[in-house]
Amino acid sequence: MVFLGEPLGALLAAALAGLLLLLALLSWRRSFAGLPPGPAPLPFVGNMLQVDVKELIASLRELSKTYGPMYTFHLGSRPCVVLSGYQVLKEALIDRAEEFSGRGDFPAVQMWSKGNGIVYGTGERWRQLRRFAITTFKNFGMGKRSIEERIKEEAQFLVAEFHKTQGKPFDPTFFLSCAGSNIICILVFGDRFEYTDKKFLMLLDLINNNWKLMSSTWGQLLFTFPKIMRHIPGPHRQIYKNYLKLAAFVGERLKLNRQTLDPNSPRDFIDCFLTKIQQEKNNPSSHFNEDTMSKTTVNLFFAGTETVSSTLKYGLRILMRHPEVEEKLHEEIDRVIGPNRSPCMEDRSRMPYTDAVIHEIQRFADIVPMGVPHTVTRDIEFRGYKLPKDLNIIPLLCTSQFDPTQFKNPNTFDPTHFLDDCGRFKKNDAFMAFSAGKRLCLGEGLAIMELFIFLTTILQNFKLKPLTAPEDIDVTPESTGLGSIPRPYRFRLIPR
Ligand code: HEM
Repeated sequence: MVFLGEPLGALLAAALAGLLLLLALLSWRRSFAGLPPGPAPLPFVGNMLQVDVKELIASLRELSKTYGPMYTFHLGSRPCVVLSGYQVLKEALIDRAEEFSGRGDFPAVQMWSKGNGIVYGTGERWRQLRRFAITTFKNFGMGKRSIEERIKEEAQFLVAEFHKTQGKPFDPTFFLSCAGSNIICILVFGDRFEYTDKKFLMLLDLINNNWKLMSSTWGQLLFTFPKIMRHIPGPHRQIYKNYLKLAAFVGERLKLNRQTLDPNSPRDFIDCFLTKIQQEKNNPSSHFNEDTMSKTTVNLFFAGTETVSSTLKYGLRILMRHPEVEEKLHEEIDRVIGPNRSPCMEDRSRMPYTDAVIHEIQRFADIVPMGVPHTVTRDIEFRGYKLPKDLNIIPLLCTSQFDPTQFKNPNTFDPTHFLDDCGRFKKNDAFMAFSAGKRLCLGEGLAIMELFIFLTTILQNFKLKPLTAPEDIDVTPESTGLGSIPRPYRFRLIPR
């Protein structure tokens, strides 16, 4: 009996395991029934064997050539819908803005954010945080010393630092990070930092490091296989530790603000948030608490620091590759602003060429190429497919920015993409550097001011001098993931 029973038992166990596996497979297949077609996935690894994980975005763009503007892609076992090209991105993010406004998985940050904070939050909490941040920023922008004045002042600090280089070769990364970050610091922490402040430099280093890690091969592996990668040693694990350090700094500021708070005279975003927590303390379902404040403040500090400085760093490199464009910028700056006063936002409407160049830098540099993942907020029908609530959506913003149906020379840096035949500035809706719809970058207005004032002030004061011939300057990114990272470079600034 014993000898007969053992093989039978083993057979039964194998049959049971097979049945369970089959049921799991059927239920997994059902989880993406009704979604748009895409490459056939394998259990557990999804479509990852069909792409180059180190070049995930390029691979996703390539797949859209076969599967069209909307296809299902499996990141491991998670089905996502990839949107590619201006038309479908507009239909989703703008025409169906509310339904596509959920925030999708972003594993690199999830471990720290746990879905809290303005960038990674979703639903009612996100809605309230976003409304609160917009109102608070508006109030500060319209205060006694408007934020435009502070940007103009920071631009002069930047120029003073640049003068100290005395025309010698240098890497601009650190200076541009300090200048860009100081603007968000003024709003969030109430003041700017000196470029020599050791703590400030340490924080900038943490942000710069995380931006690079999220855009590296490790970052892309983490995005694709979060469950496995969290247990595998490697530089990607530093992302979480860096976030904790940023949060610890915000915690210190929070303590300082709390000790000196005067609710009638708020100094910064943190003061306004502390007052809001106080006002809502008897509301048990309030979303305004210290964890949300800390995560949102870190989000704003991060989002406001790296984006603007990366764009400027990329922009200066592109201009060195195209000296004829730099020449025209100098001409317009000299004609409209002259040498004796600081550029201001009022000048922009009289400087269509500069406006077009800044748009083209943002289009071409494409610093957030796949946006940040979204989700659909309820079960919907879209383009004939059924998309279930919480389905992850990857909006490939780069495919709008480089859409050949919307830009005549999408792969070439060409400011005429944003100019009409009479040389006037021409808007193009396919420009999606700041994304679109309900999740549109919250700092768009601020970033536009910073880019215009910083760039015109630099070029009013200096001529760019590359260390190699312009035609040898490589304007492709060093790596691409969450961000497109410009290649490191040194150059010289010659006073004008
Ligand atoms: C050149 C500069 C910038 C670029 C290219 C940029 C780009 C973006 C993009 C692509 C998104 C994702 C939108 C989406 O989910 O669809 C985003 C979100 C966001 N950005 Fe920016 N950004 C820039 C500057 C800033 C600045 C200066 C701030 C500071 C306030 C900021 C704050 C945010 C916030 C809070 C979000 C999350 C919005 C939400 O989820 O509701 N950004 N940005």
